[in-house]
Amino acid sequence: MEIVIVPDAAAGGELIATAIADLLTRKPDALLGVATGSTPLPIYEALAAKVRGTDLDVSRARICQLDEYVGLPKGHPESYRSVVLREVVEPLGLTESSFMGPDGSADDIAAACFAYDRALAAAGGVDLQLLGIGTDGHIGFNEPCSSLASRTRIKTLTERTRVDNARFFDNLDEVPHHVITQGIGTILEARHLVLLATGEGKADAVALTVEGPVSAVVPASALQLHPHATVVVDEAAASRLKLADYFRATWAAKPSWQSI
Ligand code: F6R
Repeated sequence: MEIVIVPDAAAGGELIATAIADLLTRKPDALLGVATGSTPLPIYEALAAKVRGTDLDVSRARICQLDEYVGLPKGHPESYRSVVLREVVEPLGLTESSFMGPDGSADDIAAACFAYDRALAAAGGVDLQLLGIGTDGHIGFNEPCSSLASRTRIKTLTERTRVDNARFFDNLDEVPHHVITQGIGTILEARHLVLLATGEGKADAVALTVEGPVSAVVPASALQLHPHATVVVDEAAASRLKLADYFRATWAAKPSWQSI
């Protein structure tokens, strides 16, 4: 696992957007897995700026969703489908036809989860999966004690995650209790995992993920099992890493031709 400590969220966004641009240059129809929440926004802004300001062509890119609330009406502005369309798909000049996600309003949620896992495989698998991290160590919405082999399925949010996400809704009662999330086993099938964490509030979760044991109680620690996982953290989120100096030195000494 590679750990990159950047000065701030904007620098993290730029670094990761550059890696995505490189991927889309090598493989124009790459399947990019996206996360929602506040953390990845600087990535999407930096990528959209590259599309506007350079000759980067993302017109053949494909975008897929990591997770989704269950039970929000279709088109709800805080459904993750709406969020991804608004924050990623449209700013990149793509349309809904480039996008795939699980149906959180399906009558048969179990069938929708199974269908989404199959659709990801049929699409050739995810080339680069962006991840955020919850304060409780979740990735996607795999809450603590999720099976490290799990597939896309319904999960119940912890109260802590519902409180963390209440800022997107009018009040806590509106935050759904249930979600569909790619499983940890599903996430681990992506060819490259890139987790961005910013802010002091993520420092404990980052330290456990990077320097703690692999454990279902810290779902993000499963990244240690992946052959190509990159964890990008700002100084605040890195503040509890014991090996921070080593990670800084490693990054500083990295050959310039080698990307994340
Ligand atoms: C959402 C997702 C979650 C978030 C996490 C952090 O698609 O995958 O794991 O990444 O809850 O959210 P923020 O970035 O808002 O702190």
